Amino acid sequence: MVTNKRVVLSSDHAAIEMRKKVTEHVLALGWVAVDIGPITPESTHYPQHGVAAAELVASEDCQFGIILCGTGQGIMMAANKVKGVRCGVCSDLFSAEMIRAHNNANMLALGARVINELEALQIVDVFLNTEFEGGRHGKRVDMIDALDV
Ligand code: RB5
Repeated sequence: MVTNKRVVLSSDHAAIEMRKKVTEHVLALGWVAVDIGPITPESTHYPQHGVAAAELVASEDCQFGIILCGTGQGIMMAANKVKGVRCGVCSDLFSAEMIRAHNNANMLALGARVINELEALQIVDVFLNTEFEGGRHGKRVDMIDALDV
């Protein structure tokens, strides 16, 4: 897996403020934050922002991606259509740990209308600081990746 300490961030209009806070936090943790917007608050479409971030992860330009929309769900669904991406929505710390440790997720989705800012930053901490355990989980992740067309 690529380890370049680069994290791409994107969102739709529903999560711009939370994305800005998460971006600052990612920088403070010592990662390079690649914030690809959007910047302005007009209503936009989460699939395009999810896929744009996912493509930077799939190409290995970025090690991880963090994407946000109102629930995290729609943008996660779009990102997971990109080959090589494994993205999960997290609203709790245990899930954030498990999608890294067991699922080797390379993208995290957050819902700005579901969790508050402190919860988002704590989830990001866990996501970025948890290693994939490999072993028996590696075979299962390989099975997920084999579903990519
Ligand atoms: C936008 O209103 C909203 O649908 C979007 O942010 C997200 O929650 C979709 O999954």
